[in-house]
Amino acid sequence: MSDLSPLAALAQTIHYCRFCPLGKLRTHAVPGEGAEDAEILFIGEAPGYHEDQRGRPFVGASGRLLEKLLARIQLMREQVYITNIIKCRPNNNRDPLPDEIAACTPYLRQQISLLSPLLIVTLGRYSMHHFFPPHTSITRVHGQPLEQEDYVVLPMFHPAAALRNPQWMQAMEADFDKIPHILQPLRQKRSQPNQTGPDDVEQLSLF
Ligand code: URA
Repeated sequence: MSDLSPLAALAQTIHYCRFCPLGKLRTHAVPGEGAEDAEILFIGEAPGYHEDQRGRPFVGASGRLLEKLLARIQLMREQVYITNIIKCRPNNNRDPLPDEIAACTPYLRQQISLLSPLLIVTLGRYSMHHFFPPHTSITRVHGQPLEQEDYVVLPMFHPAAALRNPQWMQAMEADFDKIPHILQPLRQKRSQPNQTGPDDVEQLSLF
């Protein structure tokens, strides 16, 4: 029997995946990494050049910004889980194609189910569209938590967009600052699923 955790076993499967043509073009698949008991799951778009070289998510300029934003709320990347909507780099860093997203989505679903996060932060429109209707505009919904049965989804701009546009950088910082306030009642709700009191009601009214 394998000693791997279910999440690590899934990562091994992803490393050998050939469900779409990107499997033949990649240097490394990038399943994701982080704490297996993470409260927060970050979902980006797709690995870029550096991620493909190293087999790790968000290790280039976007990753450095993500780490800086995490530090604003006293978190390190090792305390969260970070993945992408697709696990292999699209050639020339083009946008992911619908077929590639469809081939990879079962992996994301399994990761969500194994991690069971309290909060899912989507980075950019591709991961946002996994949870929101097709024509949702990220400029309209960023920073607004969407309550699902088992977790809350908080859509944000992609760090690469924030690096290009100072206005989106400000928005991203403000959205990150909301995270501790969103997490607090979710922790409470999960530890006491059947209890509601005046404090909960006030905090849950965030949604
Ligand atoms: N951009 C992403 O969306 N994901 C990465 O892993 C790196 C950059």
